[in-house]
Amino acid sequence: HKLNIDPNAASKGTYEFYMLKEIDEQPAVMRRISNDYFSQDGDVKVDNDIVKAMADSDRIYILAAGTSYHAGLVGKNLIEKYSEIPVEVGLASEFGYHFPTLSKKPFFIFLSQSGETADSRVVLKQVNERHLPSLTMTNVEGSTLSREATYTMLLKAGPEIAVASTKAYTAQIAVQAVLAKAVGEAKNLKVAEDFDLKNQLALAAEGMQELVDGKEKIDALAKKYLPCARNAFYIGRGVDYAVALEGALKLKEVSYIQTEGFAAAELKHGTIALIEQDTPVIALINDPATSDLTRGNIREVQSRGANVMVFAMKDFAHEGDDVILPKIDYYLSPLLTVVPTQLLAYYASKNKGLDVDKPRNLAKSVTVE
Ligand code: AGP
Repeated sequence: HKLNIDPNAASKGTYEFYMLKEIDEQPAVMRRISNDYFSQDGDVKVDNDIVKAMADSDRIYILAAGTSYHAGLVGKNLIEKYSEIPVEVGLASEFGYHFPTLSKKPFFIFLSQSGETADSRVVLKQVNERHLPSLTMTNVEGSTLSREATYTMLLKAGPEIAVASTKAYTAQIAVQAVLAKAVGEAKNLKVAEDFDLKNQLALAAEGMQELVDGKEKIDALAKKYLPCARNAFYIGRGVDYAVALEGALKLKEVSYIQTEGFAAAELKHGTIALIEQDTPVIALINDPATSDLTRGNIREVQSRGANVMVFAMKDFAHEGDDVILPKIDYYLSPLLTVVPTQLLAYYASKNKGLDVDKPRNLAKSVTVE
């Protein structure tokens, strides 16, 4: 059944944990972003000053931390493809004290659900001291990163309460896609004009709904492969490598299973030494260019005893794959691929009897360096 969820409601309602509620809200958030960032006649709506400032830049620097950094890795592909401006994604905590050689006309994007992350604020302070243009994409209107940046775009994901960020991650990807299309159109790029983003966001909402409706299957996978797991690996290539990093962070931070996200081909250059009997490995497959090669990497870890779960887009799915992902624009596929990884983390944590919303050692917003 379709859950009529108000993403703005900061209450658990009938949910045991906010994290699952916020995972379930993602289809509604996609529709909210589509509704708010497109006009009735389907034109993308982004503040002209932002579009002009970004279109005039020769390099874009995306700065963030944690899950937001992982969203920036996906945004890089979208912005480079649809606005044809080179993008560099940096960990705010590293960038803050070691600025790289900047391009002549840099433009800075800060991704932050809370808008309060200290590591990101350090960078923004220096960007402002250099009088350079910046845009903050945040879920919290009036937050520090929002107020101190030149421009702001809101994620419109509704309050995100669980420490583990889910709907803000997918909202950051969707809003970066909106921005990429708007800037590409301002540059009269055909690739941007042809990018049917409004339709793709509708497909994302439908695909997310299908995946969250199949959550029991993910719970069964968590029960089958994770209860005794000491460690786990996510592997992927291309845009799936960025999702592998996010899936690993989710599983780590709520279930405390040591998990690494790895470029699928890179595992054999050393880390495969850690694969032993029953090590869980989750393989993500959306990349048309490398899906067969990743199947080879799956065989490599299986031959060393790994328990492999495969989340594959339907065009590349094989008999026996665990999750079939609906089809969507390749560069937007993280919107769908991430959903089973979020659910796997949720169930791994819940089945261990942990406080899913408040994992040990963590805070929702890291306001210290
Ligand atoms: C993600 O699940 C974590 N809670 C954490 O990595 C978070 O993404 C990071 O601290 C950045 O927070 P922000 O988006 O509010 O800046």
